[in-house]
Amino acid sequence: MSTMEETNLVFALNGQRFELKDVDPQTSLLTFIRDRTDFKGTKRGCGEGGCGSCVVLLSKYDPQSKQVEEFTINSCLAPVCSIHGCAVTTTEGLKQGNEPHAVHTRLAGFHATQCGFCTPGMAVSIAASLRKCSRKTQHGGKTEQLTSVEAEKFTLGNLCRCTGYRPILDACKSFASDVDIEDLGINTFWQSSDEAHLKKSSLKPYQPETDPQFPTFLKDYTGTSLHVRSAQLGEEKAWISASTLSEVFDIHQSEKIAKNRDVQFVVSHTSYGVYKDFKPAVCIDISRIPELQCLVQTDSTLEVGAAVSLSKVLEILDDSRGPVFPQIADHLRKVASKHIRNRASIGGNLMLTQKHGFASDVATILLGAGARVTVASAENSTVIDLEEFLAKPSPHTSILQSIHIPTWAESENSSDRVFFRTYRSSPRSSGNAVSSINAAFLAIVQTSTPSGHDEPGSKVLHLRLAFGALGSRLPLRTGRTEKYLTGNVVRVDVLREALRILREEIASSARDDKLHTAEYRESVAVAYLFQFLKPFITDANLDNPPSYGPEVDAVRDDGPNDNGEHTIANGNTAVENGSADKESGVQSFGRSVRKPDRKEGFMGKQSFPVSNKFYPVAQPTGKFGSLLQVTGEAVFVDDIPVPQGTLHAAFVPSRKALAKITSVNPSEALASPGAASFISVKDIPPNGQNIGMKNNLIGSSDQVFAEDIVGFVGQPLGVMVADTYEHAMQAAAKVEVEYDETTLGPPILSLEEAVEKNSFKVTELAFMGSASVGDDLEKGDYRIEKAELYAGGQYHFYLEPQTALAVPDEDDCITVYSSTQSPEYLQLSLGAALGIPLHNIRVITRRLGGSFGGKIMHSHPVAVACALAAFKLKQPVKMTLDRNTDMEFCGGRHECKATYTVEFNKDGKITSLDTSVLLNGGFGNIYMDLVSILLTKSMQCYNWNSWRHVTKVCRTNLPGRVLMRAPGEIQGNFFAESIIEHVASFLGLDPTNVREANLHTHESTLRFYGPIAAGSDEYFTLPKVWERLKGSSNFEARTVSVHEFNRKHMWVKRGISIMSLLYPNTQYSPRIARVTVYADGSVVVESGGTEMGQGLFTKVQQATAYGLSRLWGENVAGQVPLSKIRIVQNDTISLGNGSSTEAGITSEGTCEAVVNACNILVDTLRPVLLELQSDTAESASWEAVIQNAKKKNLPLSAQGQLEIIGPESQYIVFGAAVSEVEVDILTGGVRVLQTDLLYDAGKSINPAIDIGQVEGAFVQGIGYYVMEEVKWDENGVLITNGTWTYKPPTIDNIPHQFNVELLNSAADPSRFLSAKGAGEPPLLLSTSVHNAIRQAIKAARADVHQLQHATHEGELKEDKGSGTSHFVMDSKATMESVKKLCGLYNVDQYLEWLSKNKS
Ligand SMILES: Cc1cc2nc3c(=O)[nH]c(=O)nc-3n(C[C@H](O)[C@H](O)[C@H](O)COP(=O)(O)OP(=O)(O)OC[C@H]3O[C@@H](n4cnc5c(N)ncnc54)[C@H](O)[C@@H]3O)c2cc1C
Ligand code: FES
Ligand code: FES
Repeated sequence: MSTMEETNLVFALNGQRFELKDVDPQTSLLTFIRDRTDFKGTKRGCGEGGCGSCVVLLSKYDPQSKQVEEFTINSCLAPVCSIHGCAVTTTEGLKQGNEPHAVHTRLAGFHATQCGFCTPGMAVSIAASLRKCSRKTQHGGKTEQLTSVEAEKFTLGNLCRCTGYRPILDACKSFASDVDIEDLGINTFWQSSDEAHLKKSSLKPYQPETDPQFPTFLKDYTGTSLHVRSAQLGEEKAWISASTLSEVFDIHQSEKIAKNRDVQFVVSHTSYGVYKDFKPAVCIDISRIPELQCLVQTDSTLEVGAAVSLSKVLEILDDSRGPVFPQIADHLRKVASKHIRNRASIGGNLMLTQKHGFASDVATILLGAGARVTVASAENSTVIDLEEFLAKPSPHTSILQSIHIPTWAESENSSDRVFFRTYRSSPRSSGNAVSSINAAFLAIVQTSTPSGHDEPGSKVLHLRLAFGALGSRLPLRTGRTEKYLTGNVVRVDVLREALRILREEIASSARDDKLHTAEYRESVAVAYLFQFLKPFITDANLDNPPSYGPEVDAVRDDGPNDNGEHTIANGNTAVENGSADKESGVQSFGRSVRKPDRKEGFMGKQSFPVSNKFYPVAQPTGKFGSLLQVTGEAVFVDDIPVPQGTLHAAFVPSRKALAKITSVNPSEALASPGAASFISVKDIPPNGQNIGMKNNLIGSSDQVFAEDIVGFVGQPLGVMVADTYEHAMQAAAKVEVEYDETTLGPPILSLEEAVEKNSFKVTELAFMGSASVGDDLEKGDYRIEKAELYAGGQYHFYLEPQTALAVPDEDDCITVYSSTQSPEYLQLSLGAALGIPLHNIRVITRRLGGSFGGKIMHSHPVAVACALAAFKLKQPVKMTLDRNTDMEFCGGRHECKATYTVEFNKDGKITSLDTSVLLNGGFGNIYMDLVSILLTKSMQCYNWNSWRHVTKVCRTNLPGRVLMRAPGEIQGNFFAESIIEHVASFLGLDPTNVREANLHTHESTLRFYGPIAAGSDEYFTLPKVWERLKGSSNFEARTVSVHEFNRKHMWVKRGISIMSLLYPNTQYSPRIARVTVYADGSVVVESGGTEMGQGLFTKVQQATAYGLSRLWGENVAGQVPLSKIRIVQNDTISLGNGSSTEAGITSEGTCEAVVNACNILVDTLRPVLLELQSDTAESASWEAVIQNAKKKNLPLSAQGQLEIIGPESQYIVFGAAVSEVEVDILTGGVRVLQTDLLYDAGKSINPAIDIGQVEGAFVQGIGYYVMEEVKWDENGVLITNGTWTYKPPTIDNIPHQFNVELLNSAADPSRFLSAKGAGEPPLLLSTSVHNAIRQAIKAARADVHQLQHATHEGELKEDKGSGTSHFVMDSKATMESVKKLCGLYNVDQYLEWLSKNKS
């Protein structure tokens, strides 16, 4: 076939055949699936390859081998043209008819789905991995058993923001052949007391034979070339696949040279994830060219075609021997995610490095390994060094054909050995995050005593030192260091000199970039070379700390095993459950201590009390709708089939932080393909107001569109409306805006600038109690004066971006589907903006794909903008923010700075605290007062004895800050815990002793929180929680173990910390619910609460079953089964005034409202039941009662509400945490080894859901402290605006041993079943991780202090006031900040000390 001949694109999706003629080559597979088919399970979480919610299974048929090759891909990055001849399976396609796949049932049964937005991607990832294992077994001839450790890696590359991953790992592990069923976590399959064989048999087995097969009709298309064009809307575009090298050059000639069109080569197109302007008019697909797919192995080299995927390269290298290949494979395993690697080509990666200076791992490791490349042009092909290739941009007519990697085989008869090691520094150790620095070193070393050399040791004969991701354009070799070391025997003094030279060399190349500093990179580069050369040193032990003394065997020290994993023998003993409820039993799932044979992987235990008294309340029932979520059938707003004629909108954001708008010109944008209209402030109807957010509690705030001035980068100036999402985005980028930046002065971008310019407000703190305790600040023996501390921000990173669909209706009515937490408030905002009465506005919310506070109010401007456009254009309008816009527009957690003066006695008892906090409110002002109140409340978590506090909320030119899970509270808690740590350091005391000296008593909680929140003595469970956790976590013995470990290890330190939790909770808003019973006995419940993954619907379902079953009396449970009860979407017309879902207390309040509604129905139905019973002398069924009630025309719908709200509803949540961490002193990397949490959930309405909330919140807290950094540049532009730069935790970051226990505290009759919220408070327990990191850093710094000749003054910032080991540690314990605190020069100082002490 001639390449110019046009063909159709043919592929299969879930078995269905698709044939397309006119295709835009830029259309991604994800866009096609979501916009052109009914399969909505595949989600768009980021659109840049970073989240995994779009993962699908791709199957390709090879006619030669007659085998089907299968792998997962990110459909958001794959052009639909690139799947010609392939079959695609989404989560819907995994089902066998109506039967869910085994993966579906396991994810649902292990409580591994909360909001459900990540879940379809997770399901496909797991199913694909299982399928791959089963294929290997079938085709490999030998049986390959899946191990638990392998299974835990199934979802690497998929983000989940809700669950904390532990239940997802359990679902994966449940398929492993070596799984011990007792290791698996809480689930719906078995009771903890069941026999092991019953447990096993309750799991639906995976049956590979029922998996979907490759469609026969596609086999004809395999390997055929594709040539499709698109001439939509006057844009001529094409995708042409070339079959041979000469064809490539011909096509290039005809398209580029002859027609002067933008022509680019494409292999897998993953580079679009980072370079979003990669949108050529003509894509020449070079992936099928045989030379680019070659794999030729000889004794000396492996030649890999440039189009071979990283996964394939990895597989080949993995199976190879020698000193280099397995190491490269290991490194490749950490490049991107497996979904990316499955497609991303090795050549594409090198091209990105060459063209764009991409911070590549691949280029560095190949440079280190001495790779060469073949470059082909129309005229010839040449082989050159990779270094030369990278340095000299290729002409765009040439093709990178292949890469030659030397084997560096060692000669059998020689004593020369080849050593090759690679390194990368990244917050996620298994990858899915580009590195902040990487390196690859190759050395040929003579290990015997060389003749003519009088000193034994390792002599370097040949050396290659490559470093990448240095902030400069390209990876480089450090020639001077190589030259110095070559020919030298590696001794301490040689190593010192080599590192000195290296530091100089790197210093001249490393650069600061937006995320990392050159000094960090330089320091880690030195540390890497130190690590590499350390094993060659024979004249000293380079792992001993300076303080290392004689062996002490009193405590077991497990140390790292061969895999670098650590086991913790904590000798945990069973602790009796402290249940106050005699009817409660305790269920425990998983293990709290690692078994000796289980050194790797993740473990956990969940314990909780259950009671049948209020059945099915207090039972760990499965999540309502979980199967719909895993199979992809759950409908989110963006999945709703849109009415015909629906238009799509995209924000036009401000690009300035503070400026007057001088003109907005949309003419060019309106001429852009598909553009329909530009909607701005001018389009607000005459009765409407420019209001973006309105709220019963706080009033109105924020304009929907900027009017005369802009106040932050990302502030919407209007929306462009077009026929498709892509066209709307393209058109929005073309709106021309002119600004005057001179009149208003420079923007305020920091707290300090805000104070300087008087841009702040002192907040009223009266609402929830006084902010001063004690009349005077009481004197102590010591005083720390005016110390300062900074707590950073955090972005919500809900997986489902903000989204809304507005559908205009007759008579000025409108229906808005929105992913909002607050349908009632949105109705208010819409009413204000459109200028119509509230009864014209119907807001519908079925479920949200996560929220964490970010969709209470910031969902409003999105919906209001759609509604304004829909009203004007009389057409439905939909807007789903892309991830970058969402992050720029929606603000996040408030940054704060605290200044404190604290007085205390020598035993650590604090006598007074005086605190002042600056809070960055951003440009908006909606949450100013509320957040400062919450911050204040959380700072009361210790008994300061006397306390004075002031908060100043600053207005800055950054996006308005938003409530985020534990808003202000995590910051306040961080300040409180840090103050305790400061006092302990000052006095040289163990921080645990200082904590205990200042723990609240019941009496002090009465003073600090007031009598209502403190409750009676009986509800004050803090002392019990503290002691119990200390015992169950074996805290004291482990603390000794940690000290002992640190005494013996120089470059890895551990820290352990225990902390308590006091979290005051309040029902701010009324809660309402309506229960309606139908003639067949089925029940529908509507409530004001929205479901966003926190399990509100599940708890409401349980409360309804309990409430209606009370018809038969208090102790007759389960008469109305859960299956009879459906919880439906929020609808402001059907059930108005539903308020907002917030603060983690809506579930309990809504359950109370539901039970109150049920009480009304029970009162109505009781006479019917009595009458039936008197007739039959038997208890009547629910259905019989309802049939008779219908006959009597009794009302079968009732509305209930929560009685007590506001200050009268306050209570305190108690809890405690122990965390143990390990810090890599050379890079600043942190691993959480173990966390034990004890949480007093009152009487949990659903322990499975509450444990999910506790774990998920805790892991979000780890993200806050360890990796999620929010950064702006000097112009107020958000740098961390996507998955490339902002890193929420993955399974790499969760505690390796994660034990959670719920405590069943005494029943408090003032609340529904005494339940306490679990959504927000557990986040604060993550401060234990920060505290533990501090302990580890302290140990590292203590070593540095002992290095007698530490010469780099000023590097370790001492607290001058105390002269003790205190150091200022702000909230962000990122790798870079940890490394800085441990010492950027610690390696140099150590070697200096060693040299001096040796001689
Ligand atoms: C989410 C994500 C995370 C990532 N993380 C990492 C990481 O941690 N470390 C790392 O090293 N990399 C990482 N990458 C980069 C990834 O490895 C590259 O995107 C990929 O290898 C590019 O291959 P491709 O086939 O998709 O190239 P394409 O996107 O198809 O092409 C890339 C560029 O190279 C050109 N090109 C491609 N092949 C040739 C050729 N043979 N001859 C001439 N020109 C060619 C194209 O015209 C285009 O300009 C990541 C990528 C993503 C999306
Ligand atoms: S949407 Fe594709 S990876 Fe996030
Ligand atoms: S359940 Fe994973 S993101 Fe919500």
